[in-house]
Amino acid sequence: MTVSLNGGEACFEVAEGDTLLRAALRAGVALPYECGVGACGCCRCEVEQGQVEVLWAEAPGLSERDRRKGRQLACQCRPQGDVALKMRLDPRGTAPTPPRRQTATLRAVRPLTHDLREFVFQTETPAAFEPGQYAFLGLPGLARERAYSMANLANAAGEWHFCVRRVPGGEASQSLFDTLRPGDSVALDGPYGMAWLRPDVVRDIVCIAGGSGLAPMLSVARGAAATLLREGPRRLDFFYGGRTPADLCGRAELAALGVPGERLRYHAAVSDAQAAATAGWTGAVGPIHALVEQTLGETLAEREIYLAGPPGMVEALLPLLQVTHRIPPERIHFDRFF
Ligand code: FES
Repeated sequence: MTVSLNGGEACFEVAEGDTLLRAALRAGVALPYECGVGACGCCRCEVEQGQVEVLWAEAPGLSERDRRKGRQLACQCRPQGDVALKMRLDPRGTAPTPPRRQTATLRAVRPLTHDLREFVFQTETPAAFEPGQYAFLGLPGLARERAYSMANLANAAGEWHFCVRRVPGGEASQSLFDTLRPGDSVALDGPYGMAWLRPDVVRDIVCIAGGSGLAPMLSVARGAAATLLREGPRRLDFFYGGRTPADLCGRAELAALGVPGERLRYHAAVSDAQAAATAGWTGAVGPIHALVEQTLGETLAEREIYLAGPPGMVEALLPLLQVTHRIPPERIHFDRFF
């Protein structure tokens, strides 16, 4: 099946079962996207000719107005034959490595906190991705693939490390925590995502994480430690917010990078004051965006920002970054999954 974009501006082939978005990215065509799961709305398009199968008709990425105008989400459409599509290309381009689908075998599981674990998968070919990107896992018993960010760096051994939080009643985390065993195989499709570490950054870096957002931020910090923090006089401030002290993590992983403390700093805040008092926590109490502001203040405006975490954390951070400190969008990197 062939897709023609904007009257011939670009053309790409779609394999059986692939969505418009994934096929375009595999072909190196820069369609705009962030989540790949129907949530962010970045991949809105108009199907001018041909038929598509819509995977999730109620996807929140489309507004009522979009639906009235007949718009679709490229990440939720499978072509049923040749298709003509109208959609702007992403001026940011695509990430260096196009995504591919392959089989990954679970090799190890490590606890990070009481409800966060690291799952190490291995593919037969090298793991190629940029720090901060994610991949889709096809888990047993689940109709839809789930997106998880890698915590490690690209490597020849084919290792993909994911940090997953157990979500009460969550099918995907249940499958990973309770069903899969080392030696089991799943489908892995990736890498995806636009919030990857830009290698040519000339500013100090800020990483802000909550929950399983630890993974992409650790990957960005690891990538920076291997390159930018070694090569120049740059600094990285890493912030992690949890509800209770037992939720906090990431400090040991950052310390293991061997970057001098004045170049790589870890900051944590706990949002539940009662839990903090009960546990004897003497660090910051409150939302993580308050600690970011208190620690960096005016200097935030000169930084390159990476963030990943629960919707509430991201929604509280954006006004601080975009309005209070007027940081331009091209210096704030995150993939919106809501
Ligand atoms: Fe398609 Fe987010 S809705 S990429």
